[in-house]
Amino acid sequence: MRTKYKPWAEPYIKEHNEVMFSLEELLSFNKPYYLEIGSGKGQFLVDMAKKFPDKFFVGVERNITCSGFTAKKLVESEINNAKLMFINAEILIKEIKDNSIESIFLNFSDPWPKKRHHKRRLTAKYYLENYYRVLKNGGRLIIKTDNVDLFNFTLENISETKFKLIYQNDNYLDLDEFDTMTEYEKSFRDEGIKINRLILEK
Ligand SMILES: C[S@@+](CC[C@H](N)C(=O)[O-])C[C@H]1O[C@@H](n2cnc3c(N)ncnc32)[C@H](O)[C@@H]1O
Repeated sequence: MRTKYKPWAEPYIKEHNEVMFSLEELLSFNKPYYLEIGSGKGQFLVDMAKKFPDKFFVGVERNITCSGFTAKKLVESEINNAKLMFINAEILIKEIKDNSIESIFLNFSDPWPKKRHHKRRLTAKYYLENYYRVLKNGGRLIIKTDNVDLFNFTLENISETKFKLIYQNDNYLDLDEFDTMTEYEKSFRDEGIKINRLILEK
């Protein structure tokens, strides 16, 4: 499901600064917030912000076209409790202050099937160590994936961290209260593909 490049995306983001967050803005933001890494076209971000208007959500996306779609959804829905960062999480995550995030969501992260690419996976050791560091005590890392290999890789890496595994489901059917469906999830569910879910706690 590769997203076709849309030339309108970049100018759209530049014109709609009000829905975007820069690294500087995030680093000086002092309210509690929830981070979604790899937010794609933004359905989860927008729906969570609508469902929980007293919480603040930040999406992180490195693809310009996906970011354009998300920015459009944020503008059109007129919500003011979600922002988007157009940045690579690899750069962002090491800049975030210790103990500063309520929860991190990873929804249907790219599986990177080739072994030589495994360190790009968003649950590679580098990322898990940083997630642990930036989450508040009691903060959660909440993961959904259709990909069994990525799921097992994640479980293996988690066993080498201080995270507590508090929920594991390899056939996540009904959505939890603190969840909504993503674009990818909708098409996987329509095709009858099983969803795996993990919740880890600092
Ligand atoms: C498979 S898509 C899933 C999108 C969405 N979460 C969903 O479930 O519909 C993964 C997304 O993560 C983004 N992504 C992958 N690696 C990233 C990184 N290092 N930093 C920011 N975004 C990343 C990709 O550009 C892509 O939009």
